[in-house]
Amino acid sequence: MTHPTYAQLEDRVRHCTACELTGRGYALQRFKGNGKVLIVGEAPGKKEAETGVPFVGRSGKTLDMWLEYMGLREYTVTNIVKHRPPQNHTPTPSQVEACLPVLDREISQLMPSALILVGKTPVRILGIGYWRMKGDLLFGKSVAGILSYNGIPVFCLPHPAYLIRQGYEKKIPDYLKELLSLYAGRIKRL
Ligand code: URA
Repeated sequence: MTHPTYAQLEDRVRHCTACELTGRGYALQRFKGNGKVLIVGEAPGKKEAETGVPFVGRSGKTLDMWLEYMGLREYTVTNIVKHRPPQNHTPTPSQVEACLPVLDREISQLMPSALILVGKTPVRILGIGYWRMKGDLLFGKSVAGILSYNGIPVFCLPHPAYLIRQGYEKKIPDYLKELLSLYAGRIKRL
């Protein structure tokens, strides 16, 4: 079951010509329940662009393991940039700028209680003023839920691809378990 606003958004994305990624494969949203926590990644990869669904490839499986560990019952998964960049390159600032109104629309439609930003691209863009933070601070306890975007508490996670490269595809390192539990506790109270 998709969210009632999905079709309108998809129509907008499918016909979007705001940047040079126009006409390429895209992925929009994936839901569990009614999606009250919005999880925001970078941009779709090959599998995501083929299926139209964010985080369904290798990184997605690892991300799902984390979300399950958090015990989140309702969430929506999306990306900052909806069309797939060539060779999976990091979206350029102008591509991000062109796509940001779509994310803002998603936020105003879903009215999420929290945003979980996955990887540095969304953090750099939405964690305004904090993008210079080193990973260990950004993905640390002291800023959990203190950062915000348009008044919505923001939580930051490293990108699963980074953990997969370190051998953590199917298990979660202890420091990340601690962070996920802390985030889950804070999100539950929102
Ligand atoms: N990485 C992302 O940031 N988003 C996806 O949808 C897939 C991989």
